Amino acid sequence: MRRILVAGNWKMNKDIRESLELVKKISYAVNDISVRDILVCPPYTSLSAVHELVKDTNIKLGAQNLFWEESGAYTGEISASMLKSAGCEYVIIGHSERRQYFGETEETVNKRVKKALESGLKPIICVGETLQEREGSITEKVVDKQIRGAFEGLSEADCDTIIVAYEPVWAIGTGKTATPDDANNVHKFIRNLLKELYNENVAEKMVILYGGSVKPDNAAELFAMEDIDGGLVGGASLKSDDFIALIKAGIE
Ligand code: PGA
Repeated sequence: MRRILVAGNWKMNKDIRESLELVKKISYAVNDISVRDILVCPPYTSLSAVHELVKDTNIKLGAQNLFWEESGAYTGEISASMLKSAGCEYVIIGHSERRQYFGETEETVNKRVKKALESGLKPIICVGETLQEREGSITEKVVDKQIRGAFEGLSEADCDTIIVAYEPVWAIGTGKTATPDDANNVHKFIRNLLKELYNENVAEKMVILYGGSVKPDNAAELFAMEDIDGGLVGGASLKSDDFIALIKAGIE
């Protein structure tokens, strides 16, 4: 049975003080919630401090990227072991903003995923089409290529700790959300593709998040869809009240 995961992607927001303030409020409000998995992904500079606060709670910690080399002359990059030493358990890989602004490709996404797995970090692989691609009716073609690229060379066992996030680019930070049915259709497409690439078991176990303007007022409906297993949330994860409401969305 897949559990709902509510993950906050803070992007380039919150200094250390602000990060602690936010996570304290969230933690206090959700400490008794056991039916949801909860994750926050602060910027690198806040990871260690946030880890100290969440390590004995039900909130998990993730980073927003990693580099595939172990160490060396790669100014500005961060390694998997550095993230682990800061307390990370998860890492977001291939977010559309990385693909759009920082030259991320299918191949580099795959290298990062492999490094994460090798290091014991759980990768959250992001895929999704642009507005132009959706209007050109090639959403499935785009997502197919991104999934195949990200999973290239990965074994069935590797899939155990992978999470996929379907994030239509046109819905990120725009206030436009895919309808629950439209999102669910793409999630189903991804699940079927995983069945084709691996098997039914891998497909059924895979947690597939939806991302793109998830808000307290649309979350319950999205999370209730058969193939949507939670959300990767940007904007609304930066406000404690909103993120708390999202975590609780749809809980009876
Ligand atoms: P958003 O971002 O919730 O602000 O649309 C989602 C994401 O980019 O992960």
